[in-house]
Amino acid sequence: MKQGSNGHSTPQWHKKIAAKFEPLPQYLIPVLQFVQTEAGYLPPEAMAATAEFLGVSESNVYGVASFYTQFYFEPRGRNIITVCRGTACHVRGSATILQDIEKRLGISAGGTTPDMNFSIETVACFGSCALAPVVVANTTVHGRQSSSSANRIVDQLATETSAPATRKKPARKVKKTKAAASAARGKKRSGIQKSNRA
Ligand code: FES
Repeated sequence: MKQGSNGHSTPQWHKKIAAKFEPLPQYLIPVLQFVQTEAGYLPPEAMAATAEFLGVSESNVYGVASFYTQFYFEPRGRNIITVCRGTACHVRGSATILQDIEKRLGISAGGTTPDMNFSIETVACFGSCALAPVVVANTTVHGRQSSSSANRIVDQLATETSAPATRKKPARKVKKTKAAASAARGKKRSGIQKSNRA
């Protein structure tokens, strides 16, 4: 049975989709959004299951998915660095910022690092031209960026992503019950007697 990179086969995707949606073609976009939320992208197994479940052709499913920029056909990194390439950002140096981030991560725009920690993307305009040049790290918008400030953001995310979760376990307080306290007293007493006998 063919498995997707997230472990689901076409029948498994079919089951997951059927548990949430009616088998009607008008649910195509909500189904694709659901799959992307679940898998982080649109695996081919899920695309086949979507077509089968909604009773539409696979080429129709791919056609709709590729029309919208919100859908991805490849797994993306844990951190998404998006550099604005609009005019306002371009005249303020976004091309150099992008080049330097590409150099720092060793990938080109549209690519993902082999460890899946970062993807670089570009966008035509964020609609925040007054803040140009703009870099968005995941969901945080950073305005008036330079190569060095943008790379500091990348470094910060790299540190956070590679840092192990080190939540300190709080020390467990042991409440002494009356019985435990008297047992401890008894032990102490027997220890004294023993040492007296010795
Ligand atoms: S051109 Fe970059 S935010 Fe508009």
